[in-house]
Amino acid sequence: MSEHAAASSIEARGLTLALGGTPVLAGLDLRIGPGEFVALVGPSGCGKSTLLSVLAGLIEPDAGAVLLDDLPSGDRLGRLTLMPQTDALMPWRTVLDNVRVGSLLAGTAADEATAAARRTLARFGLSGFEDHYPHALSGGMRQRVALARTMLGGTRMWLLDEPFGALDALTRADLRGVLADTWARDRPTTLLVTHDLDEAVLLADRVLVCGARPARVVGEIPVAMRRPRSLDDLADPAFSEPRAEILATLRATGALA
Ligand SMILES: Nc1ncnc2c1ncn2[C@@H]1O[C@H](COP(=O)(O)OP(=O)(O)OP(=O)(O)O)[C@@H](O)[C@H]1O
Ligand SMILES: [Mg+2]
Repeated sequence: MSEHAAASSIEARGLTLALGGTPVLAGLDLRIGPGEFVALVGPSGCGKSTLLSVLAGLIEPDAGAVLLDDLPSGDRLGRLTLMPQTDALMPWRTVLDNVRVGSLLAGTAADEATAAARRTLARFGLSGFEDHYPHALSGGMRQRVALARTMLGGTRMWLLDEPFGALDALTRADLRGVLADTWARDRPTTLLVTHDLDEAVLLADRVLVCGARPARVVGEIPVAMRRPRSLDDLADPAFSEPRAEILATLRATGALA
């Protein structure tokens, strides 16, 4: 189960990939230390989701390598938990079964997996929906189920692709808190893709900025702000300074007017 899985470092070295003749990744390098929380921001279409697919082992790069704990990892599929940009819930399984699947695959006893899934669903405001099927949920509810499944995925390496994209502002702030608390407790190595700069600064130890396609990391902004962080801290220079720097770096990529 997640407490026992290793939170390894994740490194991309010179990742290069073309899809359908279009260069999407061009010599991309990054490193996330064990238990570190890194956010990735960048213009739409620059290759962020593609990068996560490569890191997760769903797509092999044309050149370059992914290293876990400094070792090249050709067969990493299943070692990292990817929460894709679309929720990718299994329509034929109930909410409870969607959320339990990672723990069961990781070898957790069924009773324990069920109890953990129920607890997590309750934290995400989904008590009473355990036996519903995904089609009977709203977009935001499906996204909460997908996030619950990721957290119980049985690994401590999380790749989150805009996990709060389909949520209203209040639910978003609420689940951001749940993610921050869960990360602080379990310390998974985490890479979060987001378009929300406030979210990147509120959650991450470091924010990477990706340039226009083909993707490369063109900036890295550390966030030294102490935790726990909240929306009440927006006026704090420890929040506003890195945020301004991210914005300036994005502008320099030509991604923003
Ligand atoms: N299977 C594919 N075949 C051809 N091109 C693809 C394929 N998948 C993605 N692309 C292209 O790769 C580029 C990067 O796509 P990707 O989904 O990684 O971007 P992204 O940074 O995640 O964008 P967004 O912020 O909008 O989610 C896009 O230009 C897209 O058209
Ligand atoms: Mg994407």
